[in-house]
Amino acid sequence: MYKFPLFQSHLDLAHSYWQRLLSPTDTVIDATCGNGQDTLTLAKLCSEGTLYAIDILPRAIELSTAYLCQNLTAEQMKRIRLIQGCHSHFPAVIQPATVKLIVYNLGYLPGGGNKNLTTMVDSTLLSFQNALPLIQNGGAISIALYPGHPEGLREQEKILLFVRELSPKIWNICHHQWPNRVNSPSLLLIQKNQQ
Ligand SMILES: C[S@@+](CC[C@H](N)C(=O)[O-])C[C@H]1O[C@@H](n2cnc3c(N)ncnc32)[C@H](O)[C@@H]1O
Repeated sequence: MYKFPLFQSHLDLAHSYWQRLLSPTDTVIDATCGNGQDTLTLAKLCSEGTLYAIDILPRAIELSTAYLCQNLTAEQMKRIRLIQGCHSHFPAVIQPATVKLIVYNLGYLPGGGNKNLTTMVDSTLLSFQNALPLIQNGGAISIALYPGHPEGLREQEKILLFVRELSPKIWNICHHQWPNRVNSPSLLLIQKNQQ
């Protein structure tokens, strides 16, 4: 096992940004909750806010619910809304400019999930279009990308083209890559201006 001083993976790096950004009362969306691991990290960081956790697979919602129930109190669970559905549309109850962070960990359900049931570029891009107006000033979108499989590579390429068109006066965007690892995941961060 390797040990590096700042972070081991794109997910460690993502978590350290979330920690810096979030306050306890924030509203947050996990747009791909999967097994619930990212959701748990977010639930601990926004312990008094509302957390929406979305996944298209009923199995992912079951796994996330079980994992969160094991690791959180009943009181903490009341702040989490688990939603089975496509993230291309967000719950209507979420008002524009009220969400501090939206997290995407793209790809397929880890741990034996069906690799054909992966996020798809068209619905991911539609989701981003609907996500941007929800972000409050000083908020962000965090996206873990997996170009090591064909749909993941297409997704990364199209997403990078999409974000290049966003106004630099409103959106500050950076893409972390690991150039000495072949086909490694990457981390895209989209921050909204504070004002
Ligand atoms: C890499 S996994 C997420 C891992 C998760 N964040 C965790 O911590 O365990 C990607 C997830 O995206 C989900 N997904 C795929 N297409 C989706 C869609 N259109 N809307 C919402 N979720 C989707 C998959 O079912 C899968 O569970």
